[in-house]
Amino acid sequence: MPRIGSQYLLQPIINNCLGPKLARPSSFPLPLSPSGSGSYPPGGERLILLLRTHPSSPIRPIASAASLPPPPTPNEVHIKVTMDRLADAAHLMIVSDLDHTMVDHHDPENMSLLRFNALWEANYRDNSLLVFSTGRSPTLYKELRKEKPMLTPDITIMSVGTEITYGNAMVPDDGWVEFLNQKWDRKIVTEETSKFPELTLQSHTEQRPHKVSFYVQKDKAQDVIKALAARLEERGLDVKIIYSGGMDLDILPQGAGKGQALAYLLKKFKAEGKSPNNTLVCGDSGNDAELFSIPEVYGVMVSNAQEELLQWHAANAKDNSKIIHATERCAAGIIQAIGHFNLGPSVSPRDVTDLSDSKLEDFDPAYEVVKFNLFFERWRRAEVEKSELYLANMKAVCCPSGVLVHPSGIEKLLGDCENAFRTCYGDQQGKSYRVWVDQVLPTQVGSDSWLVKYKKWELSGEKQKGCLTTVLLSSKGVSVPEGLTWVHVHQTWLDGAGPTDDSSWFF
Ligand code: GLC
Ligand code: MG
Repeated sequence: MPRIGSQYLLQPIINNCLGPKLARPSSFPLPLSPSGSGSYPPGGERLILLLRTHPSSPIRPIASAASLPPPPTPNEVHIKVTMDRLADAAHLMIVSDLDHTMVDHHDPENMSLLRFNALWEANYRDNSLLVFSTGRSPTLYKELRKEKPMLTPDITIMSVGTEITYGNAMVPDDGWVEFLNQKWDRKIVTEETSKFPELTLQSHTEQRPHKVSFYVQKDKAQDVIKALAARLEERGLDVKIIYSGGMDLDILPQGAGKGQALAYLLKKFKAEGKSPNNTLVCGDSGNDAELFSIPEVYGVMVSNAQEELLQWHAANAKDNSKIIHATERCAAGIIQAIGHFNLGPSVSPRDVTDLSDSKLEDFDPAYEVVKFNLFFERWRRAEVEKSELYLANMKAVCCPSGVLVHPSGIEKLLGDCENAFRTCYGDQQGKSYRVWVDQVLPTQVGSDSWLVKYKKWELSGEKQKGCLTTVLLSSKGVSVPEGLTWVHVHQTWLDGAGPTDDSSWFF
């Protein structure tokens, strides 16, 4: 049993040791950190337990199976589902639109998105908040997540600010629903809009409790909006009509919209004494305009912003120096804005050519995890030289007696990984192979050790595989330029993201 300071790393095979009924110990989710990053193993067969010794009681006994609370329904409850994942105010809160802002549909390689991802996970995930604010319904949002290498946000605002959800489990904000119900009558909206032949109803997935959506031709949009607004007012409704992307027309309660949803969140944070130090809003089209009118926030209209947003800006906010029109497209424009407004680090690890050169003053476990996985991508794509120096560095960061629990369940010695590393050089050359990590959350568990949990994804051609990964990193006696050593790695296939053949998964 490896000892880490006053703690022990324990890796029991629960089903064998304790019988099939006992799926987990009584203390799950493990109180690993104030932010509560304890987790259930998706498969349920293996657990890593990190036990702290207590001055008076060395190790707490495991309770009997009968006293265990029932497990939560979704197995994705690692992150607190409310607004308080962070104990303190967020250093930065990014509120970003998705289509043509965070996600560039004209970039099949997704380079700007992957650059943003690496920057966020290496430098911001631990102390900042990522909020996605999209016009998409939950159905289409989930589709986009399957198509593109997107991170998991802390808060998801969907259906043009009419639906707010928290955490991985996407728990809805019922207070917001209640608020939107005021002065809203969906039936009257559908009744009146049916009288306009210029309006074509969008798909049924995009019709939501507080959003009715149509397509309308650009040249007809302004007249239709005017006439419709007047009609609905006559019927006693207070609605908001938004035109986006030169084709989409959304009708929402007056109190809804992306800007109002953000104002609501900011108010909630303020009430908790946790207003983010800085907020950056990012958008490209009409439904994003409201985001830029929230007081105090920084804003970036990406270079590829739609005419309707630029016109709104020229008419309403052109003297606001806290809003810029980036020269870069999509997520690259967001990175540009972080740098422009000095909101924190703005060099993505993906823009660092020689990763072994990037020495940090202090060891940073999240940066280490991002860097390691990125180097792995470059190695397999043969984008770095196959040099003995890299292999020696690789060997030096892997603790020789450390264990890698492969997602297949097979254990390997980390010290033996060098060979596998040598043979996989260039095996993805010329392919669209990419690696990215999501929700990299480190917990310091000793004066020189960290437990880092993250999701590691690999995309090769059309195939995507993902592992929930837990690593134990140590800076003890470290003299290698790479920084931390990898003492233990444990991986489990993420739900539905495992391969039929797991031989190609290396780390
Ligand atoms: C998304 C939604 C659509 C909406 C548009 C503009 O594309 O799917 O319903 O009209 O955003 O807000
Ligand atoms: Mg957009």
